[in-house]
Formats: sequence, C-alpha cells, structure tokens
Amino acid sequence: MTESAAPEAAISPARQPPRRVVSGMRPTGKLHLGHFHGAVKNWIAISQQADCFFFSADWHALTTEYADPSKIEASTRDMFADWVAAGLDPERVTLFIQSRVKQHAELYLLLSMITPLGWLERVPTFKEQQEQLREKDLATHGFLGYPVLQTADVAVYGADAVPVGQDQVSHLEFARELVRRFNHLYGKENKPVLVEPRPLLTAVPKILGLDGRKMSKSYGNAIELGEDGESARKRVMVAVTDPARVRRTDPGNPEICAIYHLHRAYSTPEAIERVGAECRTAAIGCVDCKKLLLVSLLPELEKHRDRRAELDRNPGRIDELVQLGTRKAQAVAEQTMESVRAAMKLG
Ligand code: TRP
Ligand code: SF4
Repeated sequence: MTESAAPEAAISPARQPPRRVVSGMRPTGKLHLGHFHGAVKNWIAISQQADCFFFSADWHALTTEYADPSKIEASTRDMFADWVAAGLDPERVTLFIQSRVKQHAELYLLLSMITPLGWLERVPTFKEQQEQLREKDLATHGFLGYPVLQTADVAVYGADAVPVGQDQVSHLEFARELVRRFNHLYGKENKPVLVEPRPLLTAVPKILGLDGRKMSKSYGNAIELGEDGESARKRVMVAVTDPARVRRTDPGNPEICAIYHLHRAYSTPEAIERVGAECRTAAIGCVDCKKLLLVSLLPELEKHRDRRAELDRNPGRIDELVQLGTRKAQAVAEQTMESVRAAMKLG
C-alpha cells in the first residue's frame, strides 16, 4: 500500500501504543495450543495497556457452519472459559458475543453497499478456504462477505489496532481500505467517521500441528490447552518429526519440526538449545526429544485443566461477565452507529 505508507506513518507512528483493541475468534470448541500461542497469549499482554474488546465471532462461524449450527453456542461458552483459564482477566477486558450486538449487522449491511466485488474475490483466504473445506458449499454471499463483517466488527468500536496473525493480514488490509473508502465517501475533510485500524503484528512463535501442517482442529493435529495427559503423551509420541530423519543417525532440522516448536514454547532455554544442537548432529533421537518435551508440556496442560475445572464449578460467573460486556459493547457500538447513520443521511 504505497500510497498510504507515508501519511499513515505520520498520523500513527508504529510505536504509538494501541488505545482500543478489538479481536474475535470463531467458536469452534476447546482452545488448542495454536489459539493460545497465536492469539490469546498476545491478547493477555495487550490487555495490560489498551482498552480491549474480545468476542466470540459466532456469525463468522456460521459462514462455514451454517448447515449445522448446533455446536456454536456450547463452543462459545467453552471458548470464553478457556480464554479465562489461560490467563485473560475477564474483569479487565470486555467480553461479548458478536450476534448479541446487532450494530455489527447494521454496519455490515451499510459497508456492503460500498464494497467492490473485486476486493472480496481478491482476498486470498476466500479461494484458499473454499479449496480446503471442499466438503462444504462455500459459494455463498455470507462467506464472500466474511471480511466485510470483520471490518464492521472492528470499526463499530472505533478500534485503532487489531492484533493479527500473519494469516489475518489480508483481512486487516481489506478493513483498512474499506474504512478509507467509507470515510472518503461520507466523511468531511479531516473528519473521518470511522477509525482506520492498524495491525498489531507481534512475533508469534510458530506452532505446527502434530502432522507438520498448520495446527487446526479440523485437521485433527491440534493439542488442546487442557488435553488429558495420557492422550497428549500418546499423540506426541507418534507425531511427525523432520521426515529427513529416517534412521536414528540421520541429522535433522529442528526448524521444520513441530516437536521443536513446542520445545521453544514450553522448555527451558537450556533444553531448547540442547535439543536444537543435538537434533542437527543426530546426538539426540526423536523419541528422547519427545520425552523431554513431555516433561515440560504435560504439567502446563494439567495446570490449564485445573483452572478450567475450577471455573466450571461456577459457570454463572463468566456468563455474568459476558452479559455485562455485551451491554457495554452495545453502548459503544450504538454511539458509532449514530455517527454512521448521520453520515449516510439515515439519521
Ligand atoms: N477471522 C477471525 C478468525 O479467523 C475472527 C474474527 C472475526 C476477527 N472478526 C474479527 C478477528 C475482528 C479480529 C477482528 O477467527
Ligand atoms: Fe524434531 Fe526433536 Fe526429532 Fe529433531 S530430534 S526432528 S527436533 S523430534
């Protein structure tokens, strides 16, 4: 985006701390390590310094799960409880459910009026997902409109920053362009109606799934944050490692190995260094390397399970906080919508 680089930098230098942050996650059930290291860990850090709105993107879940929405509600509760068990302070952030804040839908509709079709078809995840989820018919208006809804999610709160992983960069770039187009059409000079969000890109440690592909529930290669120790142990022990290590004496490349990525997230600096070096020289075998990982990983899974169990003893508490958060979200979103309606002569 060459044309925006200079003015953007002038208005909001990259170092300026975020003021209001919005992020969502599709409710797909229990959280796995990929969700934690790719998003939630980062949210916890950001919540120390910005006003944060984190939500269950249940409408977004429907873009692919519309044929069977039966699991979405239970998944939302599971997901919130896992966020909190993982360390997100529910009193510090605003937690809510997307579908309970109708202003997202209204802004989505209005934004859709000004969204060029070509922009939507160009978003890389559109074609990619259609190809990866072949068993689902994703040739729908809702699926095509995914990034428009996501733009509404962020803009309706006037968020100036959105924490994103590398795979979400194209969605955020889309949101920025759409907000700019909106402001160009309906804003007065120097008085934008909507805030252009910038990406908060943080270096996320890469955590691959146990088969070496991206960690994802739908691939069955994920370790759940609170996975039972025995199950995690069995699955780690049969996980794919560097395929070049056919024999025990073959040296490996830890960088492409899911086990090494997990070491980086869970083991001590000494262990990480040792494993990395000994993998390259074939001084350590994959079986021992995995056993070493389990020593640091399993206690963490257990801690999460315990915290989850404690929260589950009083599920009403999270429900209450979500209700409170939803009301707060509605109030903030309604304020934005008042300016939006006025700007579009719907006021
Ligand atoms: N697309 C995100 C995901 O893959 C979920 C999401 C929906 C989101 N709306 C958002 C993320 C707004 C950040 C900001 O889970
Ligand atoms: Fe992966 Fe460890 Fe085997 Fe190296 S030794 S390939 S890091 S499991």
